[in-house]
Amino acid sequence: MLKRGYKSKQWSGALKCRVSVFLMFFTLMLVLVVFLLVFHSDSDGVNPGLADERPEQKWNSFDTLVHLHPTKEFRNGTDLIWQVPESPKGVLFLAHGCNGRAINFWDKSPECPDCIGLPEERLLVLRGLAQGFAVITISSAQRCWTFGKEVLVIKDIIEWWIGKRKLEKLPLVALGASSGGYFVSVLATTMNFSSIALMIAEGMFEQIDVKGDYPPTLFVHMPKDLYRQQKIDEYVEVLKDRGIDVGVVECEEFPLSPNTLADRIPGLDLSLSRKLFEFFQEKGFIDKNGFMKKDGRKIKWIEALEEKKTLLLNNNLVSHIQEELNLAFAYHEMTSLHSEQIFKWFEFHMS
Ligand SMILES: *[C@@H]1O[C@H](CO)[C@@H](O)[C@H](O)[C@H]1NC(C)=O
Ligand SMILES: *[C@@H]1O[C@H](CO)[C@@H](O)[C@H](O)[C@H]1NC(C)=O
Repeated sequence: MLKRGYKSKQWSGALKCRVSVFLMFFTLMLVLVVFLLVFHSDSDGVNPGLADERPEQKWNSFDTLVHLHPTKEFRNGTDLIWQVPESPKGVLFLAHGCNGRAINFWDKSPECPDCIGLPEERLLVLRGLAQGFAVITISSAQRCWTFGKEVLVIKDIIEWWIGKRKLEKLPLVALGASSGGYFVSVLATTMNFSSIALMIAEGMFEQIDVKGDYPPTLFVHMPKDLYRQQKIDEYVEVLKDRGIDVGVVECEEFPLSPNTLADRIPGLDLSLSRKLFEFFQEKGFIDKNGFMKKDGRKIKWIEALEEKKTLLLNNNLVSHIQEELNLAFAYHEMTSLHSEQIFKWFEFHMS
């Protein structure tokens, strides 16, 4: 923000002033900018011009509002994990991507000892609960979701659970990422969602028969994934032609800072976060501004870390770090960064 202000002053100064005045002005600005950079890197090490692209939410940002106390059940051959806040105003079904499971959405706790609590998943749940949604997560039967019988099984589970918790009167919304996004796009043809959000997924709109009562659909995607970007552009038009309300949220890359991992991952302290950041810099995984040069899955950071030997990492943190690296690169990853817009979408279509 600050730097932007200076930039525009510098720009108009250059246009209007005579050379000597300009030079004085320029020198002054240079000193100021350098001062700001140095001062700022002392506090969090990031170029201030880039700061507003970075995630604001910390892993514990919802601590004053809500805590995770889920219930785990087994039904129709799969597990569901859920939590209902006090006086819920809606029901949210969250569908993971391939290799995901319900346990990824909730922190390890006495109620769920095998839960994993991945940073983006858990923040989506926390935001949902904080906004007054009863949240239900279900694991797919296989590695990814399938679109035959599984659609009916999940519909069955959700309806059974809603009935049992007496939440029938509340509006129902769904968010699915990747494989879960395709799944939600199909589930929406047989369940009465008040709106849905499809994340990093274009949906199955070539296979399904979209009728006029199809729910309002928000695409949350990463434009770096050009193929999906094009498909989404196409499907936005298809849905609009049918009179369906459509929204699009684009997620851009952001630079890592020495604090990012500690800010986002419970149980990863600042000292480790800084060391990892320096290690990524040293290895050239990130550029001088902190941007990932490649997708987190494409760099061999775990192998590189093992070679280093001086930096020991708890195995339980690997998938958490991986997720944040993928997210920073912004090609294909679950994201909670735009959850404010997602929940606005849900709430807007509830009334
Ligand atoms: C899910 O389980 C219930 C209870 O066991 C059963 O009645 C129902 O038919 C099952 N649904 C599907 C789609 O298999
Ligand atoms: C769908 O749900 C809405 C509330 O979200 C309700 O008003 C409407 O009657 C439901 N439609 C059907 C067909 O159940």
